[in-house]
Amino acid sequence: MEQQTRLPRHIAVIMDGNGRWAKKRGLPRTDGHKKGAEVFRQICQYASDIGIEYMTFYAFSTENWKRSEQEVCAIMDLLRAYLAEMQQREDENRTGGYRIRFLGAREGMPDDIVRLMDEAEEKSRDKTRITINICVNYGGRDEIVHAVRTLCDRAKRGELEPADVSEALVSDALYTAGQPDPDLIIRPSGEVRLSNFLVWQSAYAEFYFDDVLWPDFTPADLDRAIAAYNQRDRRFGDAR
Ligand code: FPP
Repeated sequence: MEQQTRLPRHIAVIMDGNGRWAKKRGLPRTDGHKKGAEVFRQICQYASDIGIEYMTFYAFSTENWKRSEQEVCAIMDLLRAYLAEMQQREDENRTGGYRIRFLGAREGMPDDIVRLMDEAEEKSRDKTRITINICVNYGGRDEIVHAVRTLCDRAKRGELEPADVSEALVSDALYTAGQPDPDLIIRPSGEVRLSNFLVWQSAYAEFYFDDVLWPDFTPADLDRAIAAYNQRDRRFGDAR
């Protein structure tokens, strides 16, 4: 990237188009997810190399359970493989310095994956190079409902009054607590919608839509998205 480029602190990505990528090649949809998971690894590495602080990837939504059992199992297996890899890299003490976080409801997820997720978060919590958020069993509205419940429980315990509820308190009750909101949200594959991704956190995000399918997405595509972001005039409601 050029020296003067203003880097977004936090980039979020909807990894879309895996099924179409596979179909175009006469392959099963699951091969598209497999290639998508490889691209996820490459983009994490590249983002870390160029100095992005936070990356968030939409891997599995609360709605994705409606897909065939075979497809759901294939995505879960890709997660298992990645988690096992993280474990091994940690054991060999040569991690890329990723702090890994999983955003989404743990309830409903296979027990072994929940255990590995907890372990990966715990082991990587002090890493500082980049934070990689992986959204699994994630829905933006579900996340807000979860946050409201947390705040209601606190009110019931007498820890806060309804009038104390502020934007900051809601933010702190989300899965992304303590992290900056995304500056840039990228959706490849030609779809132009948010699909229940980071509903609260996207309030002031810049959006970048691209026709490339996620399995074909390259570091050069990320550079193009960052270049487009640099052309935007972010005013946050100010008049300037
Ligand atoms: C959307 O494309 C993609 C998904 C629902 C799954 C994404 C999951 C991965 C890339 C693997 C995750 C693994 C790790 C290790 C993070 P689609 O299937 O809806 O594509 P289509 O619109 O072309 O059918």
